[in-house]
Amino acid sequence: MIVKNAFGTTSKGEAVDVYTIRNSSGAAVDILTYGATVNSIYVADKNGAFADVLSGFDTLEGHEKYSDYQGMTVGRYANRLAGGKFSIDGVEYDVEKNEKDITCLHGGAELSTAVWKAFIVDDNAIEMNYTSPDGAMGFPGKVDFKVTFTLHEDNALKIEYFAVSDKKTVINMTNHAYFNLAGKGDILAHELMINADAYTPVDENSIPTGEIRPVEGTPFDFRVAKPIGRDINEADDQLAIGKGYDHNFCLNDGDGPIATAYDPESGRFLEVFTDLCGVQLYTGNFLDGTNIGKNGNPLIKNAGFCLETQYYPNTPNMPEFPQCTFDAGQKFTSCTVFRFSVK
Ligand code: BGC
Repeated sequence: MIVKNAFGTTSKGEAVDVYTIRNSSGAAVDILTYGATVNSIYVADKNGAFADVLSGFDTLEGHEKYSDYQGMTVGRYANRLAGGKFSIDGVEYDVEKNEKDITCLHGGAELSTAVWKAFIVDDNAIEMNYTSPDGAMGFPGKVDFKVTFTLHEDNALKIEYFAVSDKKTVINMTNHAYFNLAGKGDILAHELMINADAYTPVDENSIPTGEIRPVEGTPFDFRVAKPIGRDINEADDQLAIGKGYDHNFCLNDGDGPIATAYDPESGRFLEVFTDLCGVQLYTGNFLDGTNIGKNGNPLIKNAGFCLETQYYPNTPNMPEFPQCTFDAGQKFTSCTVFRFSVK
């Protein structure tokens, strides 16, 4: 069942709606047309009590003022582009350097701050569309973006991404939800598994150095589930740069979940599936209580964790990484599933 309501008006005067998709067990997701944002996910704990397992904001003003990309669809290029630059067929493109005037982060936030057009496509699915003009944020090509959100009866939220450009261009899309399976406090006791034998260490600007470093024997080894907080304060050059985990993991091949998370207190269990090659684990390290989130609560450090499925960061400048440059007319598609249950 899908219900549409008005959510608010942006500072530019655009009307924003919220679509609530609910399944027969009572699980529900709220999706905003602003940023094609997954604003809330309500799922039951082991005693049947529902809570919102996403941190973020309950007002549009919150999203506009603080952002943090809470729940948003990000692109055109999720994660970072070094120096805000890349080349295609010998032509260099200078894109928005929205992070410290040095890097392009999350595509210059274009997709995250756009108001998308929404269509109900089934009784459990909505489609959001947004067309980005040629040259937006400096990126080549007019690109038609489409994201479909489906809430299944087994409490799986499926997010399907489609994009097609009229010029050769780079595309890397993800969702930036911050999960907190307890619905409160921090996520350090959540037990996380990531099916990755290696990750991409970064320089001081959080750009991959090019090294594919084995996780074996490092705090980055999540192959067997462990509490997120267990090794987060270890003396480690990479944890120091990110003030915690803020890194891309190189996913192993296989059919199972690429990641799982479990909150022992509530019993809530999350499984993540994707067809992409990487995932950014970001543990909300730069949240410091300044931004005020849902119900007026400050967004404290480690209030949520993100599993941003993606091509590796800075791929257009790293020929050795799996590439995400698409020809004119060539379709970009990807799919990520977040499935909730209890243990
Ligand atoms: C980045 C973090 C950044 C955050 C923005 C993540 O994807 O890797 O470094 O602070 O997005 O909220």
